[in-house]
Parts: sequence; structure tokens; C-alpha cells
Amino acid sequence: MQDGLLPACPGTELALGDEFLQLAGAGPAPAQNPARPLRTDVYLSTDRHAMELSAISAHPTAAAHSGDVAEPGDFVTVEVAGVPLIITRGQGGSVHAMHNVCAHRGATVETRDAGSQRVLSCQFHGWSYRLDGELRAVTDASVFSSTPCTREGLVRVHCEERHGIIWVIVDPTATPIAVRDWLGDKLDKLLTSLKLESMAPHASTSIEVNANWKLLTDGFLELYHFKYLHRNTVASYLTADTTRPLRFGAHLGNAIPKDGLLEDLASEPRDGWRVYDSTVIPVVLLPGTVINWDAGQVEVFSLRPNPKHPGQTLVRLWLAVPAERADQTDLWDSTWAGVLEVISEDFTAAEQVQRNIETGVADELLIGANEELLLEHMALVDKLVTPYSG
Ligand code: FES
Ligand SMILES: [Fe+2]
Repeated sequence: MQDGLLPACPGTELALGDEFLQLAGAGPAPAQNPARPLRTDVYLSTDRHAMELSAISAHPTAAAHSGDVAEPGDFVTVEVAGVPLIITRGQGGSVHAMHNVCAHRGATVETRDAGSQRVLSCQFHGWSYRLDGELRAVTDASVFSSTPCTREGLVRVHCEERHGIIWVIVDPTATPIAVRDWLGDKLDKLLTSLKLESMAPHASTSIEVNANWKLLTDGFLELYHFKYLHRNTVASYLTADTTRPLRFGAHLGNAIPKDGLLEDLASEPRDGWRVYDSTVIPVVLLPGTVINWDAGQVEVFSLRPNPKHPGQTLVRLWLAVPAERADQTDLWDSTWAGVLEVISEDFTAAEQVQRNIETGVADELLIGANEELLLEHMALVDKLVTPYSG
């Protein structure tokens, strides 16, 4: 998809509307570059996979929705980059993330998916922890040791709440990056103007996909597949030919108008345009999270690669909806059913590719000029896994 003289990312909602009209007026541009090969190793290599996991562990990952731990004492347990975590909201209202691994002999401290507790306690020998992970009590302490226990508690990892998402950096040795700095000013402002922070979670699920995590991000970066793979679903209401590619530094995405928006823009006064309400904006955050603004609601895909297998990914997915309309449950239930239908089309295609390339029949795939964001994302991942190669 060509973006001509458009800037890397749109400045405002109205500017995006201007750009849609410009793109629609120009019509589909012929390719300026040849299609290029992509080695299938990038989806198969276990060495590369280990490096990618390290990179994912050192960057913010969307671990949960803020509403999953709405009240002090609420907790959820998740696994990110193979690391079991417990996320809590403390009595003071701030969120905490710790390894869900007991400081005594390594048992799982909290075995439930979610709940509410004043203290966390390990079922093996009863050690207890405060909501921020600090060790609260060693049971039978006088017989456990002649000296006071020096363990501080659960291993804490960097955790931050922003845009209605609880972000964690799983590697406790990594230099913490503020989410705002990692997103960059433009993308942070876009997510602020979409008001993600005030949304309420409606539904969530975890899906095991037998495909490399990058085959899943690829599906958000190229729109070439839309009118074929999704001919019976999203292709019927999106104008994918007028897609606006977005580049927010290392984070890439697309803005796709829903059918009818271009006609509205052409016929209505510019200062009354409601562009975001009729636009789908998937943004692939580097590495491993996709935020899909879906014309009024948002889906967050947290891609959690299986540490032992490059061809397996656990996708944690949730749908968040405007809090003031959260009680329209029939509407959101049908929206959620639609989301699951579309992504099952994407995931099925990704699983086919993974299965086929694992047989060794293809060393290279061919990526079109209209799929260039996919190669740009791959180059950004390359840079992450070879930070010293220059
Ligand atoms: S392993 Fe948790 S208290 Fe012993
Ligand atoms: Fe798709």
C-alpha cells in the first residue's frame, strides 16, 4: 500500500479524514517496488525464538485490563513469555506484578485465575505475602530457622497502568521503560484521544494458536488478505482499498475506514466529522501486543509465545467497550462473537502457513509491495534480537 507524501502518522482525527479523502481520490497506486523474499527461518528458528522471547521479556507487555483488578485486593494470574505472574491492586489503588512463585520452595502462590484477597498465601507451607509481594509471615518461624528470614518476598516486576491496560516488563533485570516513552508521543496521544482509559472490559479469552507470534502480527499489518480471507466477514463493511498505513516509530499499524465514512466525509462539514467512530485502527506494538481500535470499542491481543516452541502462541484477547454503554450486553455479545469469527479466519490461515513451512517445503515466502509493513515489522524485530549488530 502506497502512502505517497503522507506523513508517518496522522496528527489529528480531522487530518486522518483529509488523508482518507486524498487516498480515495488517488485510487489504488501501482506497486513502486518488487515483491521480496522472506526466509521462513524467521518463524521456525529456535535460536531466534529464544532471542525474541528475551526481547519480549524486556519490553512492556499487555498483561491484563485495568478493570480485571478494579478494586483493592483484586488479583489475576497470567503467564507472559513463559513466566507466571500475579497482578494485584493494592490497598492504595496502585497495581503490582510479581512472579507467582513462592520465595520458600517455588510453589505457585495463587492457583486461581482471578479473585480478591487481603493477603496472598501459599498453600504448600502457608507463607503469606502482602498485595505488593512483600513477605508478610513465615509459618512456624521459630522452628523454620534460628535466624530471621531474609527473603523480601515475591520477585517484583515493573508494572504500569496506562490507557486502561496493565503493562508488565517480565524480566526483573531489564531497564524499566515508561509506557509513554515506549509508545512515543504521537501514539500515546492517539490512544489518549481514543479514550481507552475509560473503557470497561466486556469479554476475554485465551486461544492456543499453532503458529509463530509474528504470523499473527502479520495479519494486522497487511490488508491484502482482507477481501479474500475475510470475504464473508469484515471485508463486507471495511473499505480496505483506502487503508492509511501508520508508522509510530517501532510501532506499525493501519487505519481502515468503514463503508460509508468516505461518503460522510465528502458530504458533511469538516468540523463535524467523527472519523474515529467509523475507522478500524490496528496497531502492532513492538514486540507482541496488538491494540485494535474497532470504531468505538477496542480489542487487545497479547501474544504470548510458547518459550519451548517457536510455532506456538497463546493469545490472550479481550474486548473493552465504552463504560457508559457497557450495559448494552446484547450488542457487545454480538460484537464479541464477530471478533472471534474474524480472528479464527486469521489464526486458521496462520496455522496453515506454520504447518506447511515446518515440513521444510519452502525456504522462502514472497512478500508483496502491498505487504511492506510486514517486512518493516520483521526488520524492527531483527533489530531487537541483534542489538549489537549495527
Ligand atoms: S513453597 Fe510456598 S510456603 Fe513453601
Ligand atoms: Fe485478517
